[in-house]
Amino acid sequence: MNRIFLDNAATTPIDEAVLSVMTTALRENFGNPSSIHAEGRSSRAAIEQARKAVAHYIGASIGEIFFTSGGTESNNMVLKCAVRDLGVQRVISSPIEHHCVLHTLQTLQKTTEVEIVMLSLDEKGRIDAQELEQLLKDESRKTMVSLMHSNNEIGTMIDLDAIAELCESYGAYFHSDTVQTMGYFPINVSKTRIGFLSGSAHKFYGPKGVGFIYINSDNMIKPFVDGGSQERNMRGGTENLHGIIGLAKALELAYENREKRQQKIQSLKTYLKEGLESNFGDIQFNGDPEGLSHYKVLSVSFPASPKSDLLLLNLDIAGISVSGGSACSSGVDTGSHVINALHPESSRKTIRFSFSYHNTLEEIKVVLAKLKEIMPELALVS
Ligand SMILES: Cc1ncc(COP(=O)(O)O)c(C=O)c1O
Repeated sequence: MNRIFLDNAATTPIDEAVLSVMTTALRENFGNPSSIHAEGRSSRAAIEQARKAVAHYIGASIGEIFFTSGGTESNNMVLKCAVRDLGVQRVISSPIEHHCVLHTLQTLQKTTEVEIVMLSLDEKGRIDAQELEQLLKDESRKTMVSLMHSNNEIGTMIDLDAIAELCESYGAYFHSDTVQTMGYFPINVSKTRIGFLSGSAHKFYGPKGVGFIYINSDNMIKPFVDGGSQERNMRGGTENLHGIIGLAKALELAYENREKRQQKIQSLKTYLKEGLESNFGDIQFNGDPEGLSHYKVLSVSFPASPKSDLLLLNLDIAGISVSGGSACSSGVDTGSHVINALHPESSRKTIRFSFSYHNTLEEIKVVLAKLKEIMPELALVS
């Protein structure tokens, strides 16, 4: 039986065309991009071609794109360099950011004088723009606002343009973790005044271990990784050439097919949501599925019971891969900091379904049938 993969917010399967350019690069572009001979120059040209493509798709200049090892590194780099090099004294963020932002902020709080301010959220995970504006009115300290474009667990999104405008009008730097939205929404930094954003190839059908950061050229930060002049001195180390080539190809495919993919994924999410509503009693949706929400994520909570406790495991046994929240890096399920922040009293069990353009309606029908089989007591009709 083919497995049904509905954990595409954790990672996505690699596109065939991406794999193909990567294997060609691995075989043929073996020159070190820093070498001055022909093999080196050819590898350097391939990296610069990739940079040009990424810059083109997000409306940036070539000099504003830096390749990294992924979203985690990009977010670390922005926050740590902003405090170290731009004199940021206050970071305004939210308690449901990805751990790579939250843990970086904790480290900064311990090791620097920076003040960390967490915005309050409503039960759907939305920030209050008025609260943010009130905070920004205090312009006595250099401030960075760091808010993710879409939450990876519940899909709630911010209005990127509105927050960018707000930050600009009060002279604050704006960083957005766009790891879940890059390639899914038409982000264009020539239209949206944003200082920093982060992308990760494996979320848009590219390879793992490679990402990028956009840094607006007004923001002069210093190297994050010392040791070489790669990435215009910002990140020493021989470049992940095949990864970078794969990233650019994956982003190209994501932008070129964006509307088609979006339609397909949105229809699957809608079908599952409606199917859950009409087939099950006592379910709740986390986040803001009817509002500003990522079309690839549907987070559902079921009442606490011995069966719902084993839901992930039983779905896995049935050939269906979903997750309880985000993909956890420790391999131990410690609950979700996002759900705990929004529903601290709740003992309900959360399942995150996240879709790719490879999923089919047939698969969603199987998921609904399996859920009924696993939890017949919740089914409204058998
Ligand atoms: C919102 C968000 N930010 C950052 C990351 C980290 O990205 P990477 O896996 O490339 O380090 C993830 C991955 O789960 C994510 O969902």
